[in-house]
Amino acid sequence: MKHFISLNDLPNFEQTLALAKQLKANPYAHETAGKRKTLGLLFFNPSLRTRLSTQKAAQNLGFNTIVMNFSNEAWALEFEDGTEMRGIRSEHVREAAAVVSQYCDMVAIRAFASLNNKEQDEAEIVLNSFAKYASIPVINMESATGHPLQSLADALTLEEHATPHRPKVVLSWAPHPKALPHAVGNSFTQMMQLRDADYVIANPEGYELDPKITKNIPIVHNQEEALAGADFIYAKNWCSYSQYGEVLRTDAEWMLTLEKMALTNNAKFMHCLPIRRNIVAADVVLDGPNSLVIEQANNRTFAAQAVLKTLLDHA
Ligand code: CP
Repeated sequence: MKHFISLNDLPNFEQTLALAKQLKANPYAHETAGKRKTLGLLFFNPSLRTRLSTQKAAQNLGFNTIVMNFSNEAWALEFEDGTEMRGIRSEHVREAAAVVSQYCDMVAIRAFASLNNKEQDEAEIVLNSFAKYASIPVINMESATGHPLQSLADALTLEEHATPHRPKVVLSWAPHPKALPHAVGNSFTQMMQLRDADYVIANPEGYELDPKITKNIPIVHNQEEALAGADFIYAKNWCSYSQYGEVLRTDAEWMLTLEKMALTNNAKFMHCLPIRRNIVAADVVLDGPNSLVIEQANNRTFAAQAVLKTLLDHA
């Protein structure tokens, strides 16, 4: 495994999930595996969970960590090749990635979608440029189209709350005032395609995710129909994919309320956080006994630790 850009890069998803579970039980089992190694964490966008959990994961393995807010602390990067760099971009990613590789043994990168240009976002220019020009492994800490560290943590959370029967898991679109990327919905869907579950996506018309990702997963436009009998509800907003980047509606009809949760099979409630209270989900749902959101955040550490350990083992 050269890089961790998506779940598909893992040599064996089940083994990495099992490793995450082992590391949660014994976080210091491999506390010298990363000794004298440095993980660089470069943030082009804000973060709470990813920034802290990935550093904690690295430190549990004995790594040193260097964190940089690239968007406002580094030279603005040029990604185009062959261009005359007369504008505000002072450094080319070719040098930047090569230089970071001198100081770090692995580099983790967060670079969200612009939501202005679908083709550019899908090209994953930031992540793929670093993967091309760095001489060290590159880890995706949420890119334009994927958030695999989140979905690995979500797989661990689902496993910890396994039902005695094949579970029904629903990814439900929920409202939000701003245009949000598809990364979490995409990676959760890619992860669920590896699980033995009845997986359904519920979204209003016009909010279908990328069909190259959803493939033959059932998509339901009636939220209440989708929620019926569900064991897990994963709420998430994303902007329109077909009308790329647009917010088509902001009304409360798709908010997750206690009344909606009553339609389920006493479902657990999941969300990657951060969440807009009483917009995406009602306070009573988030604060209720079935909410797993804090457990999901906790599991981010062990998911990241399992990925770092897997990269060390397959270097
Ligand atoms: N879920 C998640 O990635 O949270 P942050 O954006 O705070 O890192």
